[in-house]
Order: sequence, then C-alpha cells, then structure tokens
Amino acid sequence: MTTTISPLIAGNWKMNGTRASLDELTALAGMLTTGEAPRALVVICPPATILAAVARQGASAGIQAGGQDCHPAASGAHTGDLAAGMLADAGAQYVIVGHSERRANHAETDDLVRLKAEAAIGAGLKPIICVGETEAQRDSGQAETIVAGQLAGSIPDAASQHEVIVAYEPVWAIGTGRTPTNDDIAKMHASIRHKLVERFGDKGATVRILYGGSLKPQNAREILQVENVNGGLVGGASLLAKDFYTIISAV
Ligand code: 13P
Repeated sequence: MTTTISPLIAGNWKMNGTRASLDELTALAGMLTTGEAPRALVVICPPATILAAVARQGASAGIQAGGQDCHPAASGAHTGDLAAGMLADAGAQYVIVGHSERRANHAETDDLVRLKAEAAIGAGLKPIICVGETEAQRDSGQAETIVAGQLAGSIPDAASQHEVIVAYEPVWAIGTGRTPTNDDIAKMHASIRHKLVERFGDKGATVRILYGGSLKPQNAREILQVENVNGGLVGGASLLAKDFYTIISAV
C-alpha cells in the first residue's frame, strides 16, 4: 500500500539564506520546468525572512514553501516567535516541527512538538514532524524505542483526520556526511510505519515518512528507493540548486 504514496523532497535551509539566495530558487525553478517533470513534490523551507518571497517565486515551478518552526499559540506576547497562521499567511503550506536542532538547542519536548503540530494543522499547514535518535542511543540499541516514544508523544491525534508527514533524521547523520546503512534505514522506517498503522489504521499507511541526514546527490538514489522511504528532508545539499535538483531527480 505504501508504494502508492507520492514522494516529497523538502529542503531545509536552516539559518542560511538571504534575498541573494533567491537566485538559487530561480535556478532550481528553471531546472524543474525545463527538464523532465519531477516525480516528487518539491518543498523549500527557507528562513522566515524570505519565506514569502520563496512561496511567491517558487509557485510557477510547482515549488511549495514551508516554515522551519512555529509557536503553539495563534498569537500573543511571544517576542521573536512566529505563529503557524503567520507562516500560512506568508504562503507556507508546510512547517517543520521538532527538528533535532530545536529539540537540542531550545529544549523542545515531545509535548511541545505535538502542540506545535496541532497549531500547524489548525492553521491549515502540513506539519513535518521530525524524530531521530542520537549516536549514543543507537549504540546502546535503543534507536527504535526512542523513535517510537517520540512518535507517540509528538504526533497529535488530529493526524487521524489531517495530513502530517514524519521525517526520520538520525541526529548523528545530520551534517556529518555519515548515513545509516540501507538496511538500518529500512528497519527504522518499517518500525515507524508499524507504529503509524497501529495508531491510525489505514490512515497511518498513507503518511509520508521522509529520511533526512546527509542526503546527497551521491547517495539519494539508493536511499530513496528503500522500502517505506517516501522522500527526503535535505539540509546542506538543498542550498545549491544543482545538488537539490539531482536529489529530486533521483526519485
Ligand atoms: P543535512 O542534509 O545537512 O545532513 O541536514 C539534514 C537535516 O537536518 C534536514 O532537516
């Protein structure tokens, strides 16, 4: 059943990008519209300062935009934060929540991530809910248990009625050039699928599970064909149009 899920490739620009980076978007749009039509949905999650520009400029090439985080509240006295509705107003259709960098740098818990995902759904966005184990947790054989706990705590019940996306990003693979073996990816994605189906039934069988962590032009083809890998969440390699296009084309 999972083979019918249409793949999605999302670029997470993290804290990289100014208006000058829109040139990369223009280049990517050119590649996507002149080459063979991509088999994957393409999403870019730029810094919020250029989100509206990315949404506007990417639309004609079918590139969708997403935020990198949102606050659980709809509005209020939260200096420096952004509500999901504001991201939607700027043209976003997705928002990443629970990225390991936010879990680590801002002490985000599963409960908070779940509230953010609920806020995203409430604003009409599709949350990309990130999970993933640290190296120590994998070495001690706890990877699947840790990820199962994150899934249980971070995915809201509303996922039974609304579209959510799960991104499996092993923390030790992010920005390191290291990736799990294809067998390890297959095992983890199967375990995530199992948990989703256990909790959400048929709906759980349709949830996209993205892989993220040092996804590059060189390894994209083999990783993206692993069972239950329904696309990718790409950091560093999404910053250059040529590399990102190669990953999109690997689907
Ligand atoms: P890298 O692709 O740079 O390893 O980053 C992955 C990531 O964190 C995407 O959210």
